Amino acid sequence: MADLDQNTVTEAVIAQMADTPDPRLREVMASLVRHLHGFAREVKLTPAEWLAAIGFLTRVGQTCTPIRQEFILLSDTLGLSRLVNLMDDKANRVGEATETSLLGPFYREAAPQFGYGESIATRAKGPEMMLFGRVVNEAGEGVPHATVEIWQTDADGAYDLQVNNPEVMDMRGQFRTDAEGRYAIRTLIPLGYSIPMDGPVGAMVRAQNRHGFRPAHIHVLIGAEGYRELVTALYLGDDDHIDSDTVFGVSESLVVHPRAGLEGAPDPALPSVRYDFRIARKAAHDTSGRVGADPSKIAAE
Ligand code: BEZ
Ligand code: FE
Repeated sequence: MADLDQNTVTEAVIAQMADTPDPRLREVMASLVRHLHGFAREVKLTPAEWLAAIGFLTRVGQTCTPIRQEFILLSDTLGLSRLVNLMDDKANRVGEATETSLLGPFYREAAPQFGYGESIATRAKGPEMMLFGRVVNEAGEGVPHATVEIWQTDADGAYDLQVNNPEVMDMRGQFRTDAEGRYAIRTLIPLGYSIPMDGPVGAMVRAQNRHGFRPAHIHVLIGAEGYRELVTALYLGDDDHIDSDTVFGVSESLVVHPRAGLEGAPDPALPSVRYDFRIARKAAHDTSGRVGADPSKIAAE
């Protein structure tokens, strides 16, 4: 038996995992071990630091509930969610499809359905705005009967999960495009908000002297038969944190400026945003591009 040293221990672990039948699991785990060991060697990780990290990850897990996903928040604040998003976009975005953005931890399945131009604010109150436009394919043709799902904060910067009991859904809804691919959604002007700062990820963000804010945004998820699902968000350009999103979700092409009197707006008196979402045909090998999920579904999988 050979004695292990601080370098040979890495290959010993990988050798023990070499019979993993799933080739992708084998590849991912071997690389994980190499990078994890390399990281520990690079920073000369001490036993006290290792234990602090174990304590931190334990608290992250203990903070997760069916309506709160602290691990996703950790991934988001470390830029990992955005990185996975960017890589998936590069591998799968066909043509000039609308850029993607983070799903975030506040997406919920089975949001209520609304008709053209109806308001998703069933309880929350505040200044209103309108989002309208078309869902188009790569040729610029309207995609009929696409599902346009949106969710956002209210005018105080809170999601329904943060203000109501979890049974109640507000400020979220599903719409369908008409025969020409048009949609129109009445909503409240969202406010930027701080990610949840009362848990271990908040403690980490504070320790790094970061502000923890996301600029105001509206999440959008678009699905249509035969098309790749689009997970994106529109960001309000006048938000103070538009250039320093704590989870790195903003792209230039997703920045919008609501204004009244917009040509073609369903209600010209309301500040409105016209945005056409371009979706790409589904490829045969397509897997979901969602970096995130309804938190209540994650532990069950
Ligand atoms: C959000 O957009 O809702 C969000 C994304 C990442 C972390 C926290 C919130
Ligand atoms: Fe959000």
